[in-house]
Amino acid sequence: MSSIQYKALKRMHDILPPDIYIWQKVEAVGREIFSSYGFQEVRTPVAESTSVFTRSIGENTDIVEKEMYTFLDKGDRSISLRPEGTASVVRCYVEKNLHTLPSPQKFYYTGPMFRYERPQSGRFRQFYQIGVEAFGDPGPRIDAEVISMLRHCLEKIGLKEIIFNVNSIGCPDCRPVYREKLLGFFAGGLDRLCPDCNRRYHTNPLRILDCKVDRCVETRKGAPKVTDYLCEVCRTHFSSLLLFLELLGVSYIVNPDMVRGLDYYTRTTFEVTSKNLGAQNAVAAGGRYDRLVKEFGGPETPAIGFAIGMERIIELLKSSASHDFPRPDVFIAAIGELAAGESLVVADRLRTKGFWVEVGEAENSLKSQLRRADRLSSKYVFIIGDEELKAGRLKWKKLADSSQGDISMFEITDFLRLQSS
Ligand code: HAM
Repeated sequence: MSSIQYKALKRMHDILPPDIYIWQKVEAVGREIFSSYGFQEVRTPVAESTSVFTRSIGENTDIVEKEMYTFLDKGDRSISLRPEGTASVVRCYVEKNLHTLPSPQKFYYTGPMFRYERPQSGRFRQFYQIGVEAFGDPGPRIDAEVISMLRHCLEKIGLKEIIFNVNSIGCPDCRPVYREKLLGFFAGGLDRLCPDCNRRYHTNPLRILDCKVDRCVETRKGAPKVTDYLCEVCRTHFSSLLLFLELLGVSYIVNPDMVRGLDYYTRTTFEVTSKNLGAQNAVAAGGRYDRLVKEFGGPETPAIGFAIGMERIIELLKSSASHDFPRPDVFIAAIGELAAGESLVVADRLRTKGFWVEVGEAENSLKSQLRRADRLSSKYVFIIGDEELKAGRLKWKKLADSSQGDISMFEITDFLRLQSS
């Protein structure tokens, strides 16, 4: 019988130790920083009715047109795996009437997202985001606060050489004027744009500014800039945001070409890029979406948020620094049957105090148990034999410098605490 070789799906990946410790560290930093700004965790399902995403992200976006994992469930309902977190959080906000709570309501989330992307470095089909959404505050102050929070978070994680790109893409009052200007600019050069941009010309011309194809980059040189066509309200919002960012010491560049791949944004958009990644260089991105809650049937509610791409952060961290991974505090080697039993008791006692303890197999020689302790990079080895048992003592050895000694069984917790303090 031939055996089948099972493999994870393309661009979906397992996350294993020791990498998982870097993931946990990033998540812990996120939780700590977000909590200090009053953001609370929410967990929404990974699957939603497809319309939750088509309605919010936009029918004509790459995500909805090409990248969603959509299927009919057994009740013939169209279901999609979430390609991002914002739509689900907005659905939840409206469904659970969270707008009746005092404003602003601030949430964060982490978890897997799914996009059927073309295989490419930095692009996964299952990838993780850690994101935040703040509802109910229309002013530029919260935009600055959210961007500054992202900066704190990325700095604390240890990312270097990152750039904050900020932009305003206007509102339904001023964007149509800009759209007309763009259409006029590209009208004579459609043959120089790629097929996708020819389509975008009719559906969403702003996205032409974001196309990476060389001839589109060339053709759009000199295109009108969105920031030159903002209405008075959007312009004031944007200039106040920039002022607050300066006040908070966030360095940024205004990048009018930075339009986002999701349709729900109004006014503020931002993207954090890294010089040390390839073409997919955005490590985090977000913006304001003042119309989405209403679109979902809720009251008019301004909102802003961002999401950090975990895989890209982890790649940067792995290549830029060495990491200290956790290792056992103690490995207990036992010699003899009585000692084998006692080693379990000692291990249990230490584990309840929070130490990571591994227990050797007493059937194996001391040498082979010590070899295992070495392979595990245990900080200490405790050796318990019949002699030691009788005396109520054990031998300890510190693997880093081979220092050793013996202590009473009653002193081992204090001994370890002292060593690790
Ligand atoms: P997004 O720009 O689509 O925005 O994704 C945010 C981040 O997720 C990106 O900057 C990138 O780091 C990461 N990312 C996106 N797609 C992939 C992929 N295929 N593989 C690996 N990483 C990826 C959003 O998702 C919005 N929901 C952000 C937001 C929250 N806006 C307002 N609130």
